[in-house]
Amino acid sequence: MGDPAGQSLLELRGIDKRFDAVAALSDVRFSLRAGEIHALMGQNGAGKSTLIKVLTGVLDADAGEIRLGGRAIRPASPLDAQKLGISTVYQEVNLCPNLSVAENIFAGRYPRCGAMQGWRIDWTAVHRRSSELLARLGLNIDVAQLLSSCSVAVQQMIAIARALNVEARVLILDEPTSSLDDDEVQKLFAAMRRLRGEGMAIVFVTHFLNQMYAVSDRVTVLRNGRWVGEWACAELGPQALISVMLGREFAVHDQGAAPLPPSVADAPALLEAEGLGQSGRLHPVDLRLRAGEIVGLAGLLGAGRTELARLLFGLEAADRGRLCIDGEVVKFSSPGDAIAHGLGLCPEDRKTDGIVAELTLRENIALALQAQRGVWRFLSRAEQAALADRFVMALGIQTAGIETPIGLLSGGNQQKAMIARWLAVAPRLLILDEPTRGIDVAAKQEIMDELLRLAETGMAVLFISSEMSEVVRVSHRIAVLRDRRKVGELPGGSSEDTIYALIAAEHEHG
Ligand SMILES: Nc1ncnc2c1ncn2[C@@H]1O[C@H](COP(=O)(O)OP(=O)(O)OP(=O)(O)O)[C@@H](O)[C@H]1O
Ligand SMILES: [Mg+2]
Repeated sequence: MGDPAGQSLLELRGIDKRFDAVAALSDVRFSLRAGEIHALMGQNGAGKSTLIKVLTGVLDADAGEIRLGGRAIRPASPLDAQKLGISTVYQEVNLCPNLSVAENIFAGRYPRCGAMQGWRIDWTAVHRRSSELLARLGLNIDVAQLLSSCSVAVQQMIAIARALNVEARVLILDEPTSSLDDDEVQKLFAAMRRLRGEGMAIVFVTHFLNQMYAVSDRVTVLRNGRWVGEWACAELGPQALISVMLGREFAVHDQGAAPLPPSVADAPALLEAEGLGQSGRLHPVDLRLRAGEIVGLAGLLGAGRTELARLLFGLEAADRGRLCIDGEVVKFSSPGDAIAHGLGLCPEDRKTDGIVAELTLRENIALALQAQRGVWRFLSRAEQAALADRFVMALGIQTAGIETPIGLLSGGNQQKAMIARWLAVAPRLLILDEPTRGIDVAAKQEIMDELLRLAETGMAVLFISSEMSEVVRVSHRIAVLRDRRKVGELPGGSSEDTIYALIAAEHEHG
């Protein structure tokens, strides 16, 4: 599948990369043209991030060659790659929370000014250029604010702005949209198309098929560390794409949550929030969940979904309203209290709130159950191993073994481990904040099916996802939030359009 001579800006051939027993890449090739958006697709653990790390000098390939503009290159570090014009935004945003937005965009390469040029940083220029870069992505925010005060989504855009802030010829985006809502995805796509028009070569890694089709020109598919093929997107339909990724046929089924049995629908509430809120963060919310019920929380980014989850779980203290569990008023002053009452929360940001990178997969999965048991009742290593083995099987976590440090797993497999951690506790009510972020199509479906099964056994689920189609598919009932306030509830099976209409209606009035 060669390129006509001279068309390729970047060529990778025969790339091999092993990690001990794991062959992450075997004889992989990849070709990229200037002025194209090229999707790199494959299941969790297929080798996408590893290929990108080889290309950007994070990892040294065991074999193979990389040519940029016809010249053999071998980036020895990300900085080296950047100097060659290859810029990257990694799957796990790697910024400094305690620096300002502008500092994050410019860290390590500040413009200098004045008579003292050479050692005085030109802050006016830093701020102006940061604002311009973000505006190019359609984002207008105060660049002097701390990064930590920005949402995960905004942080993602800042990471992209940082990548643009060099003379990049190749821009690599590893799952850049996994934490963005529809609106922001559109803005990012607009920015990508503009950059493509300027001749930038863009590599786009994503698990969202619709997004891939919306913006990409060509697609390369990897499976189990091997190159499967390269196609023009227009020539490979979604079903065909899924089959080449999986190496087998796969049908996406759309059957949603079955209607609640009347016994569940009439049951008393397991959790009931009445006017629960926190000044400045969340207007008072009423919400009720029964055992066996899956309630979806829909809303755009910043609608207050995560804030509500954090209040319910005792990560933030409510300063108004009340919370009842089994009809008794409770006050959670820490997540420990919530866990003791049978709640679990799988958080949105697995990097800062979730995984403990140095611990093994086994330890990470056992963490919440151990916390629930308290220090006096240690889970033995054998108990932890049994637990980990069970969920590696149930969720199809791809790993060399349960003793592997979790940081070495692929992004999607880390995310599965986070879900496993909370399923292991068997909470009465599980709150899942963006649980399928970074998870491939097939695994997503498996996780949704697992949730439906667990609900049938009586677990209540509060399901938060920016992917409206998922919320619709899995929920018995959908609570819609906008601007940090609940604006209504819809029955399960409502269409995505109905939800968007509810959000939009509030826009007009509000
Ligand atoms: N530093 C490492 N040490 C050991 N194994 C690794 C390391 N980095 C990656 N791997 C393994 O290499 C394989 C490919 O991982 P990679 O992160 O490239 O997958 P991916 O396609 O990006 O998946 P995802 O969609 O989940 O992000 C996986 O089996 C992973 O566990
Ligand atoms: Mg990856």
